[in-house]
Amino acid sequence: MSFTYRNGALCAEQVPLDEIAQRFGTPCYVYSCGAIESAYGEFTQALAGRDALLCYSVKANSNLAVLALLARLGAGFDIVSGGELARVLAAGGDAGKTLFSGVGKTEAEIEFALARGIGCINVESEAELERIARIARRLARRAPVALRVNPNIDARTHPYISTGLRETKFGVAHADAERLYRRAASLPELELVGIGCHIGSLLNEAAPYVAAAQRLVELVDRLASAGVRLRHIDVGGGIGIRYKDEAPQPIAAFVRGALGALGARKHRVIFDPGRSLVGNAGVLLTRVEYVKPGATRNFLVVDAAMNDLIRPPLYGAWHEVLAVREMEAGAPAAVYDVVGPVCESGDFLAKDRRLAAREADLLAILSAGAYGMVMSSNYNSRPRAAEVLVAGAEAHLVRRRESVEELFAAERIPG
Ligand code: LLP
Repeated sequence: MSFTYRNGALCAEQVPLDEIAQRFGTPCYVYSCGAIESAYGEFTQALAGRDALLCYSVKANSNLAVLALLARLGAGFDIVSGGELARVLAAGGDAGKTLFSGVGKTEAEIEFALARGIGCINVESEAELERIARIARRLARRAPVALRVNPNIDARTHPYISTGLRETKFGVAHADAERLYRRAASLPELELVGIGCHIGSLLNEAAPYVAAAQRLVELVDRLASAGVRLRHIDVGGGIGIRYKDEAPQPIAAFVRGALGALGARKHRVIFDPGRSLVGNAGVLLTRVEYVKPGATRNFLVVDAAMNDLIRPPLYGAWHEVLAVREMEAGAPAAVYDVVGPVCESGDFLAKDRRLAAREADLLAILSAGAYGMVMSSNYNSRPRAAEVLVAGAEAHLVRRRESVEELFAAERIPG
């Protein structure tokens, strides 16, 4: 475990979190190198002997240090914007091992990706296919493309993060895929390299994942008999992690299931996991500003807020909260809502938690490594948190805290 108590203090690997708070201040995201390496290892072990590529989904946590760590481990990347590609390149990632997904790629983003030698553009509509061909023609390049197929499978997850049903905006309809592949095959500017899908995030069971992979494989076979041969099958990301008491199937079960669907086919298999690599590798460290008992509810007002971690109000997501100093005997325990200073009733990090906390105590909000910092904002003119990466006994500041001046540095008063 990467976040455990040692001598009464919660630590990230070997570094006590109170030391990190003292050095870098709060609120602060703290990531564990070891936890990321170990999750990555679960994938590579399950994929041993197979032609496979892990394309880390940058949207989950795009800090350059995290990207550089994954690039060193051999990962490729799954990106959804020119901005994410720029991050991958800045972190030393390989554009050739990068997939570009997303329903709204602009001309400029497609040009940038082709110019940098993107490994594959995952096409999400017919109009996008034509646009990519036009741009490739203009640049006198061949564009490597795959179709992202919407398999119309219910991922059985939160509706906001379910992406594999017909009514969502993602991918091309399964029924249209064959026609679009034929169209793509007729365009000399396009190089058909693969096929992909992604049915949603935070999946606890492998069954829908495997069903989606099977639908892709059926299509791949049909296309092959029509003369369209593809090199890779991208089965997406979406593997869940434990936040509370869920029991998601292990990474190996998802991998084995997907490999089972591929059978003896020799295609390269691609996974694009985000959360399962980094979610439990990070915590949000925050300090109690005020203990505020009330008639009906008690509040711990902390210095982190919904602008730092929006998952609780946005999805009703549950994040474990631990006191950084183990409860001392006799400390007054009560049931609290852990809330931030932002002026919204939706500004909470956790509700109904039994904690023994006093003013100035530190709390760790767990499982905050994925979709935490990346979804943060400056609402209420709050500078964004610092980020720290721990490796063994070393803590590195990998993003300094923003200053208030930076928040309005781009603004101008006219006249
Ligand atoms: N590939 C594609 C095409 C995706 O759209 C996503 C996530 C992933 C891979 C990575 O999925 P993961 O392995 O992380 O589940 N903000 C939400 C999650 C949104 C996920 C969007 N797409 C949350 O905080 O739960």
